[in-house]
Amino acid sequence: MTSFIETQFPVSKLSKESYKERMANYSQTLTGLGKWWGRKPLILVRAAILGLLMPCSNNPQKDREIFLKILTMDEEGLWRRKKASIPIKEIAANLTPFEKERWLSIDTKEEKSKIKSNTTKEEKRELQKLVFSRLTYDEKLQYCNRPEQIEGPSPAAWKDINSHLGTHAESLPELVQELGKCQFGHIPRVGDCFCGGGSVPFEAARIGCDAFGSDLNPVATLLTWAALNIIGSGEAVMEVVRKAQQEVYDSVDSQITKWGIEHNEHGWRAEYYIYCVEVVCPECRWRVPLAPSWVIGEGTKTIAVLVPDFENQRFDINIKSDVSSEEIKTARENGTMKNSRLICPNADCPAHNAPLPIGNVRGDESGQGLRLWENQDLMPRPDDVFQERLYCIRWLETNADEKGNKHTIKHYLSPNSNDLQREEIVLSLLKERFEEWQEKGYVPSAKIEAGIKTNEPIRTRGWTHWHHLFNPRQLLVHGLISSYIYNYNKDIEIVTGMLGIGRCANWNSKLSQWLADGANEKGAQTFSNQALNTLYNYMVRPLKALETSWYLNITNYSISTNSMVQPLDSRFISLERDIWITDPPYADAIMYHELSEFFLAWYEKKLKLIFPNWYNDSKRALAIQGSSEGFRNGMVETYRNSANHMPDNSVQIVMFTHQDPSVWADLALILWASGLRVTSAWCIATETDASGFKAGNYVQGTVLLILRKHISNETAFLDEIYPQVETEVKEQLNRMLFLEDKEDPNFGDTDYQLAAYAAALRVLTKYKAIEDIDVQRELSKVRQKNEKNPLELVIENAVKIACDYLVPTGIQTHTWKQLAPEERFYLKGLEIESHGEHRNGAYQELARGFGIREYKNMQASEKANQTRLMTATEFKNKNLDDKEGFGSSLLRNLLFAVNETVKNEETSAGKIWLRTELGQQYWNKRREIIELLRYLTGIGMSTSMAHWKKDADAARLLVGAVENDHI
Ligand SMILES: C[S@@+](CC[C@H](N)C(=O)[O-])C[C@H]1O[C@@H](n2cnc3c(N)ncnc32)[C@H](O)[C@@H]1O
Ligand SMILES: [Zn+2]
Repeated sequence: MTSFIETQFPVSKLSKESYKERMANYSQTLTGLGKWWGRKPLILVRAAILGLLMPCSNNPQKDREIFLKILTMDEEGLWRRKKASIPIKEIAANLTPFEKERWLSIDTKEEKSKIKSNTTKEEKRELQKLVFSRLTYDEKLQYCNRPEQIEGPSPAAWKDINSHLGTHAESLPELVQELGKCQFGHIPRVGDCFCGGGSVPFEAARIGCDAFGSDLNPVATLLTWAALNIIGSGEAVMEVVRKAQQEVYDSVDSQITKWGIEHNEHGWRAEYYIYCVEVVCPECRWRVPLAPSWVIGEGTKTIAVLVPDFENQRFDINIKSDVSSEEIKTARENGTMKNSRLICPNADCPAHNAPLPIGNVRGDESGQGLRLWENQDLMPRPDDVFQERLYCIRWLETNADEKGNKHTIKHYLSPNSNDLQREEIVLSLLKERFEEWQEKGYVPSAKIEAGIKTNEPIRTRGWTHWHHLFNPRQLLVHGLISSYIYNYNKDIEIVTGMLGIGRCANWNSKLSQWLADGANEKGAQTFSNQALNTLYNYMVRPLKALETSWYLNITNYSISTNSMVQPLDSRFISLERDIWITDPPYADAIMYHELSEFFLAWYEKKLKLIFPNWYNDSKRALAIQGSSEGFRNGMVETYRNSANHMPDNSVQIVMFTHQDPSVWADLALILWASGLRVTSAWCIATETDASGFKAGNYVQGTVLLILRKHISNETAFLDEIYPQVETEVKEQLNRMLFLEDKEDPNFGDTDYQLAAYAAALRVLTKYKAIEDIDVQRELSKVRQKNEKNPLELVIENAVKIACDYLVPTGIQTHTWKQLAPEERFYLKGLEIESHGEHRNGAYQELARGFGIREYKNMQASEKANQTRLMTATEFKNKNLDDKEGFGSSLLRNLLFAVNETVKNEETSAGKIWLRTELGQQYWNKRREIIELLRYLTGIGMSTSMAHWKKDADAARLLVGAVENDHI
């Protein structure tokens, strides 16, 4: 049987659905449990499993229709998912004048359309449906729930699904189980041996599979366990969990209130404490508080002002709210720590104008600046380089009006002497308990083991133990919460409590930044990136501001299938699964093993208690990571083992981030050596829009490689492979073009290139061996920089074939064949640009496909996600003198002729240029010249190519001139 996913996959719609899921942020189904890096969207997992279980018929169009119905991604499914009303503006924009007349009336006073007042409820629904049907997929999604948020297909849809598949299902689990029985003889058993946050096992179980998840890291398996057993536990259990959480919170709250450490003399409650590091300036010996900016809140216009205290050679820090925008600007500019340099605020100090590298302040050179902290250090010692100073508190003043309604006012204030005294109390309360709490595991006691990511706190602050990343107030509150967790009775309650502590730790450590921008004015999480960056100023949350971290905010589902989770090295799986779906730590540089120790330090002792069979170590040495030969071997062992633990008729899926051919080639080698062959590959855009990230030109996609067990004994030589790859690439492209829907395109330009990678892998991995490739040697080879794995050449060649095969619309194949690689690159580049492609990576890949190295001289912008090619007038006469390459090509001359036409506002100069430059060619190649000019004309018509408009018009005029030209 061939699976649906081996022949087609709705990549465009799935990318949009994945994006929608990502954008839901913390209200994604599993993220509410706690932090894990690189979680995969659930909709992707759902589609992958269903795509695997669904057999192909001989009607691919019908298959696609049914597949979309199952996922509620068809028209009717989307309508079922619609939750929000389409606003009147959107309605008006999508109606014909005639329809407007029928439905709308104009409110002349407000000059706005309104739905006619006599419209009934049913009619309004009809109108919504009419307009909804006219929206694009993306537009529709704005008004929809995610597929996981509704029951599933409608009864009518089930009828169609069942009649096409020969099933009798009325729900997803029923369908999954029927299809599973058909294929494997039982409920499908799905496994993931790199389960991370648990997307695969959770989604598999939710749609009716038996699920197994394992990961080397116990923090990951704890999250996966919680996904299956807490989120999947149904409402009754959730009720118990909520009650337990409330009890803990109330107990902690009453203890804290009794201690009086979070209330001030007016009875106000603290919401945030903001601290900064303070150092002695090596130049002037003043004590200087450090912060990159002294703005506290853009919204409330709050700033900190440093006031020199000459007598004591230090600064008072005054907090002011409602200041002018001028003052905000000054506070922003007056940051005392910028680009890792100290800018001394003392105007008489040399370091006022010549900022000092922080290394000098820390005393890096003398080697005796930074003291390594000891376990019992809860604060810097008085002679430590870095002191910590509380400089602002946000208070909540709550009053009730006559009606009893509560109103809260927020105040930012500098700490007064009472506040400082309360700080002392916090410290002494903590000291009294610290030893016992460490012993019991309420607060961390583990040392920070040096590593790529974990070195930073040690190197930059001298922090040697995980608890050093928290200040006394954080340790006291977290420790107190932690101490109550042991009062819980059930596993589920205790795990909920542990994850609550984990979330508190993430949102409340000395690595949690204070965010001052208008929309926020709040604390960030420790892991706002995949590192352990220490900060010069940070915030501390008292209990009040921990509510959102402590309480589980999830939607629960009832999972009734069997599931199992355990920490385990992927190489040692001994369980048989029908389907393995894995997302290995491949080409993602996340140091899971190191980062997770931040959490493990809080969980360590409790983990052992609840899961006596689990270990509570991050097992750094066993982590598969990097790209070295050790990594490759670890991967082969894993996949060889998984192939041995699946039936012969089954399929597995490996996900990885889409990158360049060398990454593909390496993975191909690994999977091939593991006894798996590639049957197809799809790429889904899964990362958030790059504009949400800081820098970088990365290709944002997850590739799903579909694999089957190797059965052939055939061998081949590398030379024999090339022609086969060529045929396979072309066939693959034809299949995709055949399935493509012009109205609602499924594939983008990069998908076609990706298909070429996959086609090459399909041919290569079909053989048991390739005579001239020694797989074992290749795997264990220490590769030099720029050294290529032999498969890479085959893959690169496949991309070239695809690039050449996909002639841009409007150009004839024989014209295309005569063009130089640079010309093809430029023409194809314009085509993808007109499709809205601006990612640098896409152009890079194209250049690779045409085998050209240098294309910077054709680019108008290299900025991330703003990549585009120069227009004719932007080129001007650039490179025209070149004897070879693009500068000397026919196309380049045509572009210059266009430039001349624009410049002179008529065609003769351009025409004369072509006549003289091209000589006889001008007459011989007239047909091609006209064709290319027409192509440029067409480019200017695309709505996203406004910058081409005038050049395109000129190209059009030039076509006329050339057509009518005579000797
Ligand atoms: C890309 S992540 C998986 C993310 C997961 N798909 C999700 O949605 O959350 C890769 C995982 O591999 C795990 N890992 C690394 N080395 C491992 C090994 N030797 N055995 C098992 N798991 C390992 C890491 O801990 C990490 O969680
Ligand atoms: Zn100074």
